Amino acid sequence: MPRKPTVRGEEQREEPPPSRHAVVSATETIEDEIITVTLRPTGFEHYVGQHGIVENIKVSIEAAKRRAEPLEHVLLHGPPGLGKTTLANIVARELGATFRQVSGPTLERPGDLVGILTNLERGDVLFIDEIHRLSRVVEEFLYPAMEDFAIDFMVDKGAYAKTIKINLQRFTLIGATTRAGMLTAPLRDRFGIVHHLEYYTPADLTKIVAHSATVLGVAIDAGGCEEIAGRARGTPRIANRLLRRVRDFAEVKADGRIDRQIAKAALELERIDLLGLDALDRAFLNALVVQYRGGPVGIGALAASLNEEENTLIDVVEPYLIQIGFVQRSANGRRATPQARAHIGHDEAGQPRLL
Ligand SMILES: Nc1ncnc2c1ncn2[C@@H]1O[C@H](COP(=O)(O)OP(=O)(O)O)[C@@H](O)[C@H]1O
Ligand SMILES: [Mg+2]
Repeated sequence: MPRKPTVRGEEQREEPPPSRHAVVSATETIEDEIITVTLRPTGFEHYVGQHGIVENIKVSIEAAKRRAEPLEHVLLHGPPGLGKTTLANIVARELGATFRQVSGPTLERPGDLVGILTNLERGDVLFIDEIHRLSRVVEEFLYPAMEDFAIDFMVDKGAYAKTIKINLQRFTLIGATTRAGMLTAPLRDRFGIVHHLEYYTPADLTKIVAHSATVLGVAIDAGGCEEIAGRARGTPRIANRLLRRVRDFAEVKADGRIDRQIAKAALELERIDLLGLDALDRAFLNALVVQYRGGPVGIGALAASLNEEENTLIDVVEPYLIQIGFVQRSANGRRATPQARAHIGHDEAGQPRLL
């Protein structure tokens, strides 16, 4: 089954799985990255939504500043594209701290971290993305760094091997993960501040689209912003991506101005449906409802049917389908809800509806 270029996926770039999903999204990532940097809010004043978290973090930052102490370690978890990296950047900026970024899977050995840790100055922010994918040895190496601001590092090999203790400056680690459940308890316990990012409301996404359009110099009216926001799966990254696709369409098919009609036509061409579900979401629902008769079915079987990575389904596809009440996860597998069946045009018995 051929797939169109995906509207997801910065996360997939870091670990290219051998799936079409990654391959088709690869062409988009450079553009994606440039745009991400351009559109990324640099202060709380432009960070839309997530009010509870923002208020909370502001208090933590203020308290740390008053005590002239580094901020406690922060763990941010939630689906891809909701603003974890953006928030980490903003926190560092508010603290007036240097921001260093590494990605969990790229750290193979403790040695990969020694240089970074020993170069941190007091109060600096070390951001570890995809922290659930740290290797066990690196994770264990981090424990004393986080807790006592010291590391034990093995120098030389064989008969000459010895362990030296290096003291570090007190830094703040900000970890980001799409899968808090995969973190080991000892690692999770070392974060003093833990926040879960939620999907954004259409109203918040509308603001984000309008702001991005201004930055990119795109002419769009309120209806156009709403139409894009409504189909962005609650995710700012997707909202920004859809805006770019709609902009292309408007430039080619119209005079470059985006209104509701143009946005609708462009997104239909991208096969983004009214709820913002794309071809992969619908393939997932279709397999669940038709092939597996509504479930329950294990994620492994679904991944095999769709020829997709299990992780992509768990991190990217399922959370939103669960959020909108289309899929339920239980001990014996995934189930489709009646709303999911209705959406893809099948009734309770899994029979096609006469539309
Ligand atoms: N709260 C927000 N307000 C405005 N734009 C946001 C917000 N959160 C994310 N974005 C936009 O979405 C993009 C992706 O966010 P990012 O922080 O990279 O997500 P994550 O790290 O959770 O995958 C950012 O570049 C930014 O343009
Ligand atoms: Mg990120």
